[in-house]
Amino acid sequence: MSIEPHGGVLVNRLLEGSALSAAREKAASLPTIQVSEFTAFDIDCIAKGIFSPLTGFMTEAETRSVIDHMLLRPGVAWTIPILLPVSQEEADGLTIGTDVAIKDDRGDFVAILHLSEKFSVDKKEIAEKVYRTTEEAHPGVAVLYSQGPIFLAGEIDVLQAREVDHQDFNLTPAQTRQTFKEKGWKRIVAFQTRNPIHRAHEYLTKCALEMCDGLLIHPLMGTTKSDDIPGDVRMKCYKVLMENYYPEKHVMLSIMPVNMRYAGPKEAVMHALIRQNYGCTHFIVGRDHAGVGNYYGTYDAHYIFDELEEGSLKINLLFFDHSFFSNKTKTMASTKTCPGTNEDHVFLSGTKVREMLQRGERPPEEFTRPEVADVLIEWATKEAK
Ligand code: ADX
Repeated sequence: MSIEPHGGVLVNRLLEGSALSAAREKAASLPTIQVSEFTAFDIDCIAKGIFSPLTGFMTEAETRSVIDHMLLRPGVAWTIPILLPVSQEEADGLTIGTDVAIKDDRGDFVAILHLSEKFSVDKKEIAEKVYRTTEEAHPGVAVLYSQGPIFLAGEIDVLQAREVDHQDFNLTPAQTRQTFKEKGWKRIVAFQTRNPIHRAHEYLTKCALEMCDGLLIHPLMGTTKSDDIPGDVRMKCYKVLMENYYPEKHVMLSIMPVNMRYAGPKEAVMHALIRQNYGCTHFIVGRDHAGVGNYYGTYDAHYIFDELEEGSLKINLLFFDHSFFSNKTKTMASTKTCPGTNEDHVFLSGTKVREMLQRGERPPEEFTRPEVADVLIEWATKEAK
């Protein structure tokens, strides 16, 4: 039997058939708000059950429960509020208990909101509790601060799924669940990433695969900060890596259209519950998962799972210590498994790697596979011009 979706139900808010045509017609005559790309991705996540059991945008009570207790409701873990922000003027023009049409950043009608509540929560409080900082220099906090001050709550019905690059790889939770079934995989480990897969990442995925039937390489492809490596380049890296270094029978690549929030530990919990919705039974959490700058401790994203209410998450966590190539053992290893000292580790900072790539130099093979390095060099040398 497959793992149950988070909160018990795999949500599907995408309208079809006559309900869809009726909603399309109705949308044109409703008061309308236009949302950002960020919110448009959140809508897509609600629509396809990526955020199950959410069926819409959070109420004030849910938001409070999430930021204060890491619970959406008793027994259901949740750590980052999913909010629909608007300006004061927009909010003033809308009536509770009525329907509101939502246009996305591309100008398409994408959803109808059944408006149940308008509220505000101090953004500094949200930032402090979710991101553990109120600094605007934090990219997740910056997005929060840039949004309108009023939040609209209510269930949504969605008129269309969001088309993204690499749409062929954009499987919904229902589709990955079906694929796992067809492949006969029962123990499936998901790997979250927003980077090219370097040797350390590859090591984690392969250690995990030793214990599972299948590995889902599941890169995040919602909005990311501007200096992250673009999705297109990353996809090329994943593909060459899979062709050359992974067994086809036990590995699949699919993308996850979810925004990156850089909330470290809080986001690690979100990443885990989302993969539970996709039908994965195991989830990898390595060092500084979903971290940025120096905002989080190296293993904060491990410790947070001990603070969750017992049983509020069903997926199994696979925690990994900092991994690297060890010159002492001549293998990939981690601080947990390696007998040597720091001097024996192949370690390169992100900045150093970028500089090498921009000069057209491959980082050492102990750090990145040459095929991946070549994809990155092609991109970095163009960028540098
Ligand atoms: S993240 O924002 O998605 O966490 P990244 O793509 O770098 O960033 O990491 C993907 C996963 O690999 C995360 O679980 C992260 O903790 C883990 N990870 C990245 N680098 C290492 C490393 N050198 N050692 C151990 N875990 C790592």
